[in-house]
Amino acid sequence: MGRSPPKVGSLVKLPPPKQTSRGSFEETLARRRSVREFDDVALGDAEHSQLLWAAQGITHRTMGLRTAPSAGALYPIEVYLVTNEGVYHYEPRAHHLEKLMSADVRNALSNAALRQESVGGAPSILVLAGVYERTAKKYGRLAAPRASQTPTYRRRSAALHKRAG
Ligand SMILES: Cc1cc2nc3c(=O)[nH]c(=O)nc-3n(C[C@H](O)[C@H](O)[C@H](O)COP(=O)(O)O)c2cc1C
Repeated sequence: MGRSPPKVGSLVKLPPPKQTSRGSFEETLARRRSVREFDDVALGDAEHSQLLWAAQGITHRTMGLRTAPSAGALYPIEVYLVTNEGVYHYEPRAHHLEKLMSADVRNALSNAALRQESVGGAPSILVLAGVYERTAKKYGRLAAPRASQTPTYRRRSAALHKRAG
């Protein structure tokens, strides 16, 4: 992340995300492609800020609304950043990261993702976890996974979420 690794429990304040760009949304969609080979270069705070904000950043401070829509605005998605330095939890309101672990778990994540080597080789990985209880309160237990609407890694990330509180 371009500095000495933070200790477990410390908070990493992220720079404000950019909310304008030169390319259009249509151009981005037309050019978008999945890639599975990555440079071995760590991303910096500015890049993490942008990616995390795009995933679950706050766009309406008073109401707490976010970049990603959510059924009932209940926001069941928790985002974790995994790098060679360890595991961080993203806190959208404060736009900061809390360090949860110092271990490099990218190989374990690669195994959890059906041994895809590209996962283990990525300098930064965002893990999205759905906390179904948040949506279940309004939509019921059966509807909660659908209302959460995301590819989740729920069981494997449940332990991480508990640590994040
Ligand atoms: C819900 C979802 C899960 C996916 N899971 C994987 C995955 O585990 N591994 C992978 O390499 N690509 C994965 N992909 C990417 C698809 O393989 C990719 O979108 C598809 O081949 C079309 O290619 P494109 O994204 O370059 O247009 C996933 C895509 C979606 C929407």
